[in-house]
Amino acid sequence: MSRTVTKAIFPVAGLGTRFLPATKSIPKEIMTLVDRPLIQYAIDEARAAGIEEFIFVTSRGKGALEDYFDHAHELESSLKKSGKNDLLDILRETNMDSGAIAYVRQHKALGLGHAVWCARRLLQDEPVAVVLTDDVIMGEPPCLQQMIEAYQETGGTMVATMEVPTEKTKSYGVLDVAEDMGAIVRARGMVEKPKENPPSNLAVIGRYILAPTVMENLNKLKQGAGGEIQLTDAIADEIEAGRDVFGLRFRGQRFDCGSKAGFLQATVAFGLARDELKDEFGDYLADVMSMRKAAE
Ligand code: G1P
Repeated sequence: MSRTVTKAIFPVAGLGTRFLPATKSIPKEIMTLVDRPLIQYAIDEARAAGIEEFIFVTSRGKGALEDYFDHAHELESSLKKSGKNDLLDILRETNMDSGAIAYVRQHKALGLGHAVWCARRLLQDEPVAVVLTDDVIMGEPPCLQQMIEAYQETGGTMVATMEVPTEKTKSYGVLDVAEDMGAIVRARGMVEKPKENPPSNLAVIGRYILAPTVMENLNKLKQGAGGEIQLTDAIADEIEAGRDVFGLRFRGQRFDCGSKAGFLQATVAFGLARDELKDEFGDYLADVMSMRKAAE
């Protein structure tokens, strides 16, 4: 089977209740780090990795997300008229080709595995990437590109992974490691949110390359942890069936933008990474820190 990955699934049906009241009227994927919505970071990462078709699994109330990808013709022509070419470039970089994005609806919040399964009819017998927009990753090359490069070597199914402290493993899918080859590990099992005795400290982070057989496993619509249909279980089924599953310890920093603390950390990191902001913002942060120290 070809190891070229050209499609990616973005499960964006979640309600984002952790960010209420903001998410009362805007999808959480539109929330911005500095000046770019979370979804733009995910799309840029996928494009850098060679993805050409983008499948969004949405739900009720996500209209603003669909609108975000429309070309802003009026805005473009007014920027053009006023010679604001820098802004025009920024805007144009976000434009997507007609037909490059498909939306499918998840009618019920039955879990991540179910959301991914909703995209099944848009896939042939081909591998597909999955990108969770809550996990924002700063990395060079971008994380999904690192994964696709590793996947060219390994084939099978691949998840992004990183070490987390033992007490945090209950918030993640966790790998049971059969063979540790350094950057790449081979899994002999995967457990979703283990309440106790995690098989390792290697947590699954929201980037996946799925073999087509994972979709078949999802057809069973088996309930797992928390009563939800879990993607982790469908990947673990691959191992049961004797097929390869790998984890890639990616190079980069991951921010959990599904949590408030993670979102704020990402804002600081991405703010400091901007040439036009780093001095003013960096000085401000240094002041805050010294005031905090003085108050102790
Ligand atoms: C999901 C997956 C989990 C993974 C995590 C990464 O969980 O189910 O296996 O470790 O994303 O962010 P969620 O955070 O959506 O509960």
